[in-house]
Parts: sequence; structure tokens; C-alpha cells
Amino acid sequence: MPDKPIVVVGRKLPEAVEARLARDYRPKFNTDDRLYTAEELTALCADADAIMPCHTEHLSAEVIAQLPDSLKIIANFSVGVDHVDLEAAKGRGILVTNTPDVLSDATAEIAMLCMLGAARRASEGDRLVRAGKWKTWSPAFMVGTQITGKRFGVIGMGRVGRIAAKRARGFDMEIHYTKRRRLDPAQEAGAIYHASVEDLLPHCDVLSLHCPATPENLDLINAARLALLPDGAILVNTARGAIVDEAALMAALRSGKLAAAGLDVYKGEPHIDPAFFEIENVFLLPHIGSATAQTRDAMGFRALDNLDAFFAGRAPHDRVA
Ligand code: DGY
Repeated sequence: MPDKPIVVVGRKLPEAVEARLARDYRPKFNTDDRLYTAEELTALCADADAIMPCHTEHLSAEVIAQLPDSLKIIANFSVGVDHVDLEAAKGRGILVTNTPDVLSDATAEIAMLCMLGAARRASEGDRLVRAGKWKTWSPAFMVGTQITGKRFGVIGMGRVGRIAAKRARGFDMEIHYTKRRRLDPAQEAGAIYHASVEDLLPHCDVLSLHCPATPENLDLINAARLALLPDGAILVNTARGAIVDEAALMAALRSGKLAAAGLDVYKGEPHIDPAFFEIENVFLLPHIGSATAQTRDAMGFRALDNLDAFFAGRAPHDRVA
């Protein structure tokens, strides 16, 4: 019987996922959950057949160039694959998979949290109470934006975007969206289609981003596009920081063009621009869209299903390159 494949595991994974890895593979676990440098990662991969990274491991063209010929699959523990140079992987004949579907509910929940946290000034309220500075109640105290019955705009009406829209309907929100190709009526479920981002923006009291950080989406939300939103709109980003021009966003928050923003993702995270800390009307979370025990298990099992299929000679379900 051939040796079990060697799998380099990027981060510490849930217990049940590591147990399955240990049963079926020869894993190299990251027991202290350190962020590997590119050099450490390539050294660990020297004799590996596969790698299971998270979005925190950057598989750039340079890193991929140094992977051994034995390494045939990058089975991501993530739906986003912007941390992997897909062209470089293709060029080396390395297959790439991701973990779609299993984190859509959890991420849509965080989009709702970001929307409500921003609209109802949750961080400000929390800070005030914790600092012992809450002295009185008055009709003018901590007045926010009511979202019930307002318009919820989605860029990227894919798996997560459609669930976020469904949840927003629970607040009687009218759904607007744009997407390269219009959805069929069943998937649209009454949502109003706009052919371009520019067409969509004036119809968004809340704009929720759910598109991937492909090269063409970098800084998709810039000053010119923010200006197209209605005054007092709310921006929600649970996708990737790279799709928002953060300087333009901060300017729109400071000027009051935007009432607020709810963010779970940032450029350069976890080292986010400290200028955000000085802005009151932004609700900040630390990239926890998929952070529930149930979802993290499901992500690991989905990545393992892809590995299992590959090493059994079948096509992995979630091949992206
Ligand atoms: C994903 O899966 O892309 C999430 O952002 C966590 O990495």
C-alpha cells in the first residue's frame, strides 16, 4: 500500500478536522498556530504532496515557484482564493480548490450584524456603557438609522449575497443587486436587477459587498462610486478589504456622506489602518464571517473532501483552478 500523502496544514484547524487529517494523511500540523513566513512554508512543503492553507497563507507566484513537483493540490480552507496566484498554480500544474457554500449562512449573519451594528451605532453604545459614561436617556440620545423597509443593495449576488438578501428581506427591505449575469427569477426572488454598479448605487440605503477580490474588483468602491450612494447610506463589507478604497471610505464617513459602515475585512488585515479607530461611525469586526464552530468544521471537511477526491483519482468538487 502506498504511503499516505503528506499534507502541510497552514493553521491550527478544528479538532475533528485534524483528527480526520491524521487518520487519512500524513499531516504537518501547525500546532502553535503561527503565521508561517514564505520561507517556512516552502521549507515545510519540500516533501509534501498537498497543502491546506487558510487565506492567511499567501501563495504568491514566488512561493508557488518554489513548491516541489510532488505538490499537486492546494486545498484551501477558505472560499476566497485571492491569497493564491491561480495563474502561477495552473502554470505549475497544481490544482486549487476552495470551500464554497458551507460558510454562506455564517457570513450572511455577520453581514446583518455589520448592517445593524453600523446603523444603530453599536460600537459607540458599547464603548459608552463600558466606560461608565452613560449618564442619562433622552430623545436625542444615540439616534441611529432605521433599516426596516429600506433598500438593501448587493454587489456580488452569489451564494453569500443571496443569503444576505434573504435575511435582509426579514427586515422588509427591498433588494437591489448587480451581477455580471442576471439571475433567473427563482434565484432573484423579487430582487431588482441593475446592469452596472453605477446603476445600482443610487438605489442602496445599505450597500453590502459580496464579490471576490479579483484583480478587476480592487478598489471597486472608490470615491466616485461612494458619491453615487444616497446621502446617509450604510456600507457593509464582509467580503475582502481589497475591494474598498479605504481612504475614500474614511472621507465619506467623516463628511457624513455615509451615515456609517460595518466592516469585517480590511486591506492589510490584521494590521488595519489606525485612522479607522478615530472614526466613531464605523463598526469594526476582526474578519469573523465564518467564525462559528459548525462552519469551521464544515470548511475543514469540505477541504478534506476535495483532497480525498483528488488522491482517489476523482475530480474535486470545488476546483477553482
Ligand atoms: C473565506 O473563507 O474566504 C473567509 O474569508 C475566511 O478565510
